[in-house]
Amino acid sequence: TDRYAVFGNPIGHSKSPSIHAVFAAETNQALRYEAILAPIDAFEASFSEFAANHGLGANVTVPFKEQAFSLCDELSEQARLAGAVNTLSVLSDGKIRGDNTDGLGLVADLQRHFGCLKGKRVLLVGAGGAARGSVLPLLQANIAELTIVNRTQSKAEALVDIFNHYGQVRAQAIAHTGQNYDVIINSTSSSLSGEVPNLSAEVIRADTVCYDMMYGKEQTAFNLWAAEQGAKRTIDGLGMLVGQAAESFLIWRGVKPSMETVLNQLRAEL
Ligand code: ATR
Repeated sequence: TDRYAVFGNPIGHSKSPSIHAVFAAETNQALRYEAILAPIDAFEASFSEFAANHGLGANVTVPFKEQAFSLCDELSEQARLAGAVNTLSVLSDGKIRGDNTDGLGLVADLQRHFGCLKGKRVLLVGAGGAARGSVLPLLQANIAELTIVNRTQSKAEALVDIFNHYGQVRAQAIAHTGQNYDVIINSTSSSLSGEVPNLSAEVIRADTVCYDMMYGKEQTAFNLWAAEQGAKRTIDGLGMLVGQAAESFLIWRGVKPSMETVLNQLRAEL
């Protein structure tokens, strides 16, 4: 059977094996997808062994996405600009190709909730790896403009320098954006510690939709804050997780599974 895996450390709680099992069943693809705990200092050796043992493709999660980027023989434009790889493919000549589907997964989930993103004014909060992977897919979804804010403003400005050839993107001070937005995306890890980025409440108006890349059984700290400020809707990142998996599956198998079945299942298990 064709062999796929997700590499991470830790990896025990990864939902990817069950997501891909549902995708495989739904699309009638015969494949096996396992979770592999790579030693912190030996990701590359661990992946090489997998590839040598008929591994065809892998997802990569924390903390190996930058190391995965470095080991690739070729990269998609999205992976190159993201500076990180979450999807590895072993090509027929043995070369390794890297893609990054995280941002596409975000956009797919936003489109599922919203329809078209064309013309939307979007605020991206945070400027770490998760933010960087989202910028090109957002710009390519024909949004009107992207504003990036971050606790450390210089990192938002550095992202603008990378992406300003690709669309309307600018950085601002986090506490003083001075306008409101159609969509606000929290890419920071602040919800993990129950904190909320220092945004001014005026970024939210009555029909603003807020999206937190984090998810959990309870509402995230950011989404609770957004709801208190009167946001029309708050969405968590479970759909982004499923969306990035669906895009990886498409790269490997040439068929795109649907998100709904597995999302309902995961939501019930939270
Ligand atoms: P990831 O790959 O998940 O994006 P990262 O690259 O470490 O992780 O980036 C974390 C992001 O969350 C950064 O934008 C960080 O802000 P700084 O650049 O100022 O460090 C942001 N972040 C983390 N905790 C935060 C908090 N409590 N409030 C606001 N921003 C926070």
